[in-house]
Amino acid sequence: SWTTGNVIEEQVAAIREQVGDKRAICGLSGGVDSAVAAALVQRAIGSQLTCVYVDHGLMRKGETEQVEKDFVAATGVQLKVVDAQERFLTALAGVTDPEEKRKIIGREFIRVFEQAQAEIIAEASGDQPVEFLVQGTLYPDVVESGGGTGTANIKSHHNVGGLPEDLEFKLIEPLRKLFKDEVRMVGQELGLPEEIVQRQPFPGPGLGIRIVGEVTKERLDLLREADAIAREELTAAGLDREIWQCPVVLLADVRSVGVQGDGRTYGHPIVLRPVSSEDAMTADWTRMPYDVLARISTRITNEVKDVNRVVLDVTSKPPGTIEWE
Ligand code: XMP
Repeated sequence: SWTTGNVIEEQVAAIREQVGDKRAICGLSGGVDSAVAAALVQRAIGSQLTCVYVDHGLMRKGETEQVEKDFVAATGVQLKVVDAQERFLTALAGVTDPEEKRKIIGREFIRVFEQAQAEIIAEASGDQPVEFLVQGTLYPDVVESGGGTGTANIKSHHNVGGLPEDLEFKLIEPLRKLFKDEVRMVGQELGLPEEIVQRQPFPGPGLGIRIVGEVTKERLDLLREADAIAREELTAAGLDREIWQCPVVLLADVRSVGVQGDGRTYGHPIVLRPVSSEDAMTADWTRMPYDVLARISTRITNEVKDVNRVVLDVTSKPPGTIEWE
């Protein structure tokens, strides 16, 4: 029968067997999945694992700091932080197609890991190569990227369909059969703190797929501010558990006319996408309190430059996906 204890025991044995005396790296995204995958592999092979946090500039406010402090404190993993903001921005310049963005982000992740390899081997005692890459792929990711049984390819989740074909690493995917709630239970059992385990989902490609249009530094900064305001108000209203996640999306290619103070404005809309879900395979838009929506709207239009309109997405999944891209 299914217990978190069994899952952990099975996976630890399987990972030890698979890795042997080689080394593995794990990309941390700040999300629940990669954190739990890393903690599980850490339990199996200890110091043969190095975690790599790629700061691609597509993170939300405070995310980098959370990984650097909370996660390391909870697990004691060896962590390497790579500043790759320029690299990702350059690769994404001029790109507006969602699938192309996902593939570029997936590819650049891997290139950064490949480069980090040499340094990791040099820093580690011994000269075993890094042969394995740990991915926090969940069952729904497998299904929705077309890797499951008989399902259509909906999106290239960066940790499944978005990997380059010439990948040098062998993959370790210990969560491949699990759903999110099960992953959270495994994380808890592994001793990860509440702030990490109960964290709402956030996609690997980050804010890069929450800007409809080209991804630029300026737009990322703007979206980061709007997202931080929405998260702050949702938390203050005690809605973190009720809402599965609330993507905040910038419609960078859309402008609308507004009025602020004495003047006409011509700014961008921000979309709020609060959803309720069990496993992200299906979702419903969350009927959240109007006064909280009002506070978020007022704050975003007042505090975020170039945003003059906030709209609410009232679409279920299906037909809408949770993310806009
Ligand atoms: P969609 O938009 O497909 O999202 O309804 C379903 C869930 O998956 C998250 N998501 C991702 N997670 N890498 C991830 O790790 C990705 O590329 C990715 N794309 C979407 C999304 O936030 C939602 O929870």
